[in-house]
Amino acid sequence: MSSAQAAVASPGGTGPLLEVTDLAVEFRTPAGTVRAVDGLSYRVEAGRTLAIVGESGSGKSVSSLAVMGLLPDTARITRGTARLAGTDLLTLSRKEHRAYCGDRVAMVFQDALAALNPVHTVGYQLTEALRARQGLSRADARTRAVELLDLVKVPNAKARVKEYPHQFSGGMRQRVMIASALAMDPDVLIADEPTTALDVTVQAQVLRLLAEIQAERRMGLVLITHDLGVVAGVADDVTVMYAGRAVEQAPVEPLYRAPAHPYTRALLRSIPSASGTGRLPVIPGRPPSPAAMPAGCPFHPRCDAAQDVCRTDAPPLAHPAEGRTSACHFAADILTGADTGGHDE
Ligand SMILES: Nc1ncnc2c1ncn2[C@@H]1O[C@H](COP(=O)(O)OP(=O)(O)O)[C@@H](O)[C@H]1O
Ligand code: SF4
Ligand SMILES: [Mg+2]
Repeated sequence: MSSAQAAVASPGGTGPLLEVTDLAVEFRTPAGTVRAVDGLSYRVEAGRTLAIVGESGSGKSVSSLAVMGLLPDTARITRGTARLAGTDLLTLSRKEHRAYCGDRVAMVFQDALAALNPVHTVGYQLTEALRARQGLSRADARTRAVELLDLVKVPNAKARVKEYPHQFSGGMRQRVMIASALAMDPDVLIADEPTTALDVTVQAQVLRLLAEIQAERRMGLVLITHDLGVVAGVADDVTVMYAGRAVEQAPVEPLYRAPAHPYTRALLRSIPSASGTGRLPVIPGRPPSPAAMPAGCPFHPRCDAAQDVCRTDAPPLAHPAEGRTSACHFAADILTGADTGGHDE
């Protein structure tokens, strides 16, 4: 672990459950090798929620799939470790990964409909893994399925375990996915854009539910989202990703009050105010493709604070305040002047 990461240790935590250090993932493509994740580090502690935030294509899903042992064959992990209870998950075969992580780490994906099998009842799917691992009888599996649906507050759980995924609304399906991920009582849950497909009200309900369950079970939760707006009130710590890297890491409150990276500042400005409607188009341009990464700071073509040095020199990881990191040449200056640049709600 680098001293940079040590500095992001969270107050009140009990040591990391999952610690990812310097993870790099490449893909082989017809156009050559592209680096989707490039030196990502983070830690997740018991009873805490880490939000990983960044625009589409920043490497959020690829880094999680690497941790889960679910990368496609065209991907290669070129650096890094992902330690869970002392074991580096990145060194395990798929089979070893399943055996070791099956009841320790679980993941919820964005698209519940695609993840659920249309020909099996919800109850069957909820207990498939339990039956396989724990040899539960049919009756016990049914009882457990009802408990799990109750846990995620699906009304009338007893009747609903017998229904099929298409009989559930989008929000209820996502609850089923969460229940399924919780079936093995994992220490760490990685939720990858779990509410992106849902409308705003349902989104808030599902996030609240996740936060409740996380607190109750003292689970480590990794909440992946492209929307910094959903993070407040749910996350304890935030990792902001850009172009496969962590550009800012901080506890949620100081990050909101005074972001130490221009990208975080821009993401915060794009959150609609409570009274406003719609989003402000504050970040012009698009994130770079991993196949055509700009020289210097990867954010410089879109950065409103870029200077000459940014076009040539990659910024080192700075520590503009205790417990915070920012990959910006001007992190300390930004933090000093951030009272006017932060999100003022
Ligand atoms: N199967 C793949 N083949 C080639 N490149 C991929 C593949 N999946 C992802 N990538 C690359 O990795 C980058 C990060 O993807 P991803 O982790 O899915 O982003 P997100 O932050 O939206 O979850 C993408 O910009 C893309 O270029
Ligand atoms: S290093 Fe330069 S371009 Fe990059 S975020 Fe900081 S100011 Fe902007
Ligand atoms: Mg993704």
